[in-house]
Amino acid sequence: MAKKLSIVLLVLVLVLSFAAGCQKDSGGNKVGVLMPTKDLQRWNQDGDNMKQQLEAKGYEVDLQYASNDVATQVSQIENMITAGVDVLVIASIDGTALGAVLEDAHKEGIVVIAYDRLIMGTEYCDYYATFDNEKVGTIQGQYIVDTLGLADGETGPFTMEVFAGSPDDNNAKFFNKGAIDVLTPYIESGVLVIKSGEGKTNDEWTSIGIQGWASEGAQDRMDNLLTAYYADENIDVVLSPNDSLAQGITAALDAAGYGTGDKPFPVLTGQDCDVNSVKNIIAGKQSMSIFKDTRDLAARVVTMVDQVLAGEEVETNNTYDNGVKQVPSYLCDPKFADITNYQELLVDSGYYTADQLN
Ligand code: BGC
Repeated sequence: MAKKLSIVLLVLVLVLSFAAGCQKDSGGNKVGVLMPTKDLQRWNQDGDNMKQQLEAKGYEVDLQYASNDVATQVSQIENMITAGVDVLVIASIDGTALGAVLEDAHKEGIVVIAYDRLIMGTEYCDYYATFDNEKVGTIQGQYIVDTLGLADGETGPFTMEVFAGSPDDNNAKFFNKGAIDVLTPYIESGVLVIKSGEGKTNDEWTSIGIQGWASEGAQDRMDNLLTAYYADENIDVVLSPNDSLAQGITAALDAAGYGTGDKPFPVLTGQDCDVNSVKNIIAGKQSMSIFKDTRDLAARVVTMVDQVLAGEEVETNNTYDNGVKQVPSYLCDPKFADITNYQELLVDSGYYTADQLN
């Protein structure tokens, strides 16, 4: 009798859990999308693209921005867990700060996709989609080598300063590594002279990192460097990992009187093709940027979401080490942009209208 009862109970449990499973499938279309800040143009585009593309596929989307505040982002994630999302897509502010809340997400069976920035130190980061971050740095470093003719034997010496991104952003390490690897032979041979001595190797990147990728932080550091080391001599090159920093650096150079025959703007790198930086490229104040087509990244993440929810194998083309595991990753391709190709790359492709760049 007891045996019969337990079989009946077992069947009941199976039927109920099957029904629950079905319910989850039919209603399981909620995706939480978390972006770090509205302050930087790219994250607004990333958020808009994600929302648009997910909604076009019939998903319900909750899109949140966190004003670069970690506690805000954590509570947004908690709310989404409570609201029963199926997938979380997170562009983190501090990649090391989400372990505890993601453990809660995992307990609820929520799949976590790290968007653009890797989530560090947790096994509950399931997938990662980004652009090839090291390649971004390689393109920037190679641009400096090519522009100065270093591989052709130009010996300079050229003065240079190095900037790095936010110390809490894993990407920043890769941007710096990609560039510094290309530039190291010329730093070591004295063709490139870092007068401050700061940031000569990739190991030092956090000590020159600009917290929160703030333009003001970059401007302050550039002001200080110009005053301390470049009162009697021009600076020839500034390696900047992205456009928000490049814009701060440009403001400091402007204020110090750069942009004349005697004091030409230095070679200055960037990343994101932020509207203000493209305008600076057109005005001759910034030399190049990196185009990361956020439409492509969004499309890739939407494909990942589809594959996760369909129970299919998620397509990846790489892995990134987050300190706890090798996270299956998909790297999109970053592209070089400067005055010679911005029209084709950014305007003809429909990314910006010509008006936006006026
Ligand atoms: C992104 C860059 C961006 C930077 C500042 C990085 O994680 O990869 O594209 O410029 O954050 O927001």
